[in-house]
Amino acid sequence: MADIAARKVRPEFRNIQVSQILSYRLPPAGIVSILHRLSGALLFLVGIPFCLYLLQQSLTSEISFESYRAIVGSIPGKLVLLVLMWAFLHHAIAGIRYLLLDRHMGILKESSRLSAQIVLVASLLLTAVLGLKLFGVF
Ligand code: HEM
Repeated sequence: MADIAARKVRPEFRNIQVSQILSYRLPPAGIVSILHRLSGALLFLVGIPFCLYLLQQSLTSEISFESYRAIVGSIPGKLVLLVLMWAFLHHAIAGIRYLLLDRHMGILKESSRLSAQIVLVASLLLTAVLGLKLFGVF
């Protein structure tokens, strides 16, 4: 009897529906995981073509070099670079966290939560510093 009562109050965890995605509270490790995939895709799909295009523009001729300078000197160009900087920093720092987790380092719940929070804060702080440099604050 007591066994049945205990079983009744046990929480049930089910897969969420698409409509619940926005209200679902992900733990920091879950946020890092999604952002790691997003930043990897961004680096591959936008980062590589954009950087190769800039390299080509900077090398082909004097005229194309001026166009390179115009792109990296414009606000939209700088914003794209800033997003790519965040993507690289987040992806690299989170990637190092994953490599450490793969070595069974920091796999306990509390240390894993802490390292996920460090990844989120460190990548944003470093992006902010690089952003200030990019926009000529120092
Ligand atoms: C210091 C630099 C980097 C580190 C330490 C790193 C680390 C990692 C690691 C550990 C994974 C596997 C994650 C897992 O087990 O799910 C991964 C996945 C991936 N990386 Fe990187 N990476 C770096 C740079 C890059 C760059 C520059 C790109 C793209 C141009 C890139 C694109 C990807 C993609 C697309 C994935 C697959 C993501 C997924 O399946 O969710 N990475 N990276």
